[in-house]
Amino acid sequence: MKKLQETALVIEHEQVAQLTHRLKLQAPGISRSACAGQFAMIQVREGFDPLLRRPLSFHRILPAEGCIELLYRVVGRGTWWLSQAKPGTAVSILGPLGNGFTPDESAGYPVALIAGGIGIAPLFQLLLNLVADSPENRRENIHLFYGARTAAELLPEDSFDLLGIPVHVSTDDGSRGFHGRVTQLFESIVEGGPMQPRRVFACGPLAMQVQVAKWVVAHGTASQLSLEALMACGVGACLGCALPAVRSNDSGPNQFVHVCKDGPIFQAGSIEWTKIQPHPMPTPTFLYS
Ligand SMILES: Cc1cc2nc3c(=O)[nH]c(=O)nc-3n(C[C@H](O)[C@H](O)[C@H](O)COP(=O)(O)OP(=O)(O)OC[C@H]3O[C@@H](n4cnc5c(N)ncnc54)[C@H](O)[C@@H]3O)c2cc1C
Ligand code: FES
Repeated sequence: MKKLQETALVIEHEQVAQLTHRLKLQAPGISRSACAGQFAMIQVREGFDPLLRRPLSFHRILPAEGCIELLYRVVGRGTWWLSQAKPGTAVSILGPLGNGFTPDESAGYPVALIAGGIGIAPLFQLLLNLVADSPENRRENIHLFYGARTAAELLPEDSFDLLGIPVHVSTDDGSRGFHGRVTQLFESIVEGGPMQPRRVFACGPLAMQVQVAKWVVAHGTASQLSLEALMACGVGACLGCALPAVRSNDSGPNQFVHVCKDGPIFQAGSIEWTKIQPHPMPTPTFLYS
């Protein structure tokens, strides 16, 4: 798919949860070719500081309006600078990048989407697509499991109302919904219950994805996980976003996939999870107002 570098105009920019912002950009070219699960490299500020663009997934794609929406969490300098962009600001973006979700209908229902924190960003457009493609009576078979550390980090409660699907919420501190990790919530509902997912889509911290991968591999469930890695170029040139892949031959050399060009969406069984060191979610290290 053709990548474009486009100068996008900030149309709307609002804080929607703690440290979390929704940014609507007018980007007609990219909005026409982007699909759920793909991402763009964003120049967060004019000039050379910060030098590198930041990868952000498409949260909503609105080709009829020529717009895209991003949902991002402020974790460092780049996302902080981006949070300062006012409507009317021009932002250079490169995209669409990566492979995107392929919601293979033939695998059937129920479908489970598991979002950890800001992992809700790309899953939202996927949800819109799944709901649009499903007959009304199938919507109760599309389940969203959505967890965050605390209630203030969750999107507003009414964000999913129009979708008409079951939404299961968890917080690590018990301030809303199930008290515990979103993967524990998922397992508590599917283990032994009537809801046995045929497809699992997930996006969230690597530690969460490791748990999701263990479950889907153990149950032989079709899966598509959106994975993250630090990215410098986003287009396969720097090789900085490598993750260990399952080797086709046990005696062969280590194999790697590159999140930006082979992903960011991977089947759980294609990644060598035992060789990944999940790191904790970064806490912001700058003054935020
Ligand atoms: C394909 C892809 C899609 C993404 N989509 C989104 C999205 O839709 N919304 C969103 O909020 N974030 C998303 N991210 C993560 C986002 O790119 C980073 O949070 C952002 O680049 C941080 O930039 P910064 O300058 O604010 O922080 P920095 O100052 O660069 O980093 C601050 C801290 O965050 C850590 N960090 C930076 N990038 C990552 C990363 N990719 N994974 C784990 N830790 C990281 C750094 O190691 C450091 O500890 C995505 C990442 C990838 C690879
Ligand atoms: S970010 Fe450069 S190769 Fe993936």
